[in-house]
Amino acid sequence: MKKAILDVDTGVDDALAIIYAYESGQLDLLGITTVNGNVPLEDVVRNTKKVAQLIGDDRLKVYRGAERPLLKEIHSEYKVHGSDGIGGALGDMTVTKEEEEEFASDFIIEQARKNPGELTLIMVGPLTNLALALRKEPKIAGWIDQVVVMGGLISKAGHGNTLPTSEFNIYADAEAAKAVFHAGFNLKLVSLDVTLETFMNRDTIERLKGTKYHDFVLKSTEIYRDYSSKRFGMDGCALHDPLTVGAVLDPTFLKTEKHFVDVETKSDLSYGQTICDFRNLWDREPNVEISLGVEGKRFVDHFIGTLKV
Ligand code: BDR
Ligand code: CA
Repeated sequence: MKKAILDVDTGVDDALAIIYAYESGQLDLLGITTVNGNVPLEDVVRNTKKVAQLIGDDRLKVYRGAERPLLKEIHSEYKVHGSDGIGGALGDMTVTKEEEEEFASDFIIEQARKNPGELTLIMVGPLTNLALALRKEPKIAGWIDQVVVMGGLISKAGHGNTLPTSEFNIYADAEAAKAVFHAGFNLKLVSLDVTLETFMNRDTIERLKGTKYHDFVLKSTEIYRDYSSKRFGMDGCALHDPLTVGAVLDPTFLKTEKHFVDVETKSDLSYGQTICDFRNLWDREPNVEISLGVEGKRFVDHFIGTLKV
C-alpha cells in the first residue's frame, strides 16, 4: 500500500476525499493534516474529526496545522461550504476524537524523513503546511516521492472560482504555493481544468442509496450543489478534492504533461494565478506535471463504487 498523508481544509469535497481515500483500501494513510482554508482552522479540525468518526476507524490520526496563510489575510468560503464548512451535515455529532499533539508541518517532515522515496502527499487545501515544512527542512523535497496538489487553473484561465484567473486553494495562500512550486518536488497539479469535468448531481448521489455514506453525501453537498448550479449553471457539484485522491489511486484518470509553472503573487487582478509556460519562453526546466484531460465518467463511477460500503 502506498504511504500517504492527506492535507485538508474540510470543506465539503475534502470530507468526500477523506472518505474516498480511506475506503479505497489502497492507501496507508499515515495521518490527516489540517489547514485554514474553506473555513477557519478550528472548524476544519472539528469537521475532520467528525468525518473520521463517521468512517469509524480509531486508527485515523488528525493533526492541527497552520491557522493562517503565510502573508495573506484569511479568506473563508462559507457560501460554498456552509457556515460550518460541511453544509450542516453531522451537526448532531459530538466530537470525541482527540487530535495528535504534533504540529502538521512537523509531522510531514518526520514522515518524509522516516520514509524516504515512499511518501505521497495529497494536498487538497491551501499549501501553507507544506510551505512551512519546507522552510524548516528544505531537504523534504528530495525525500517525498510525489506531491499531488488540487489547485490552480491553466488552460481555462477566465473560468476561476475565486478570481477569474484564480482557483481557491492557490488564491488562499499564493506565497505558500509559489514556495512549493519552486522547491523541486515531483509535483502533480490537479487543476480546475479537469476537476470541473467531474461532477456529482442528485442522481449520482441516489446511487449510494441504502449505503453507509448516502445521507452524509446528500446533506453535506446540498448548499454546494445549489451554489454551483446558481452561480455557475452546473448540474451538481465538482469533485475537486476526490479527483486529486483519484489521481493517486489511478493516475490513468488524467492526461498530463510536464511544464514550467509559476504563481502570481503581486497583482490584485490575478493574485494566485498559475501561469504555465507552454512555449518555453522563460527557458526554465519543467517543474509541474499539469492536468490536461480527465476520464470524468470513469472517475465518478470509481468514486461512487468505492463509497458504496
Ligand atoms: C478547492 O477549493 C475548495 O473550496 C475545495 O475544497 C477545493 O479544494 C476548489 O477550488
Ligand atoms: Ca479543499
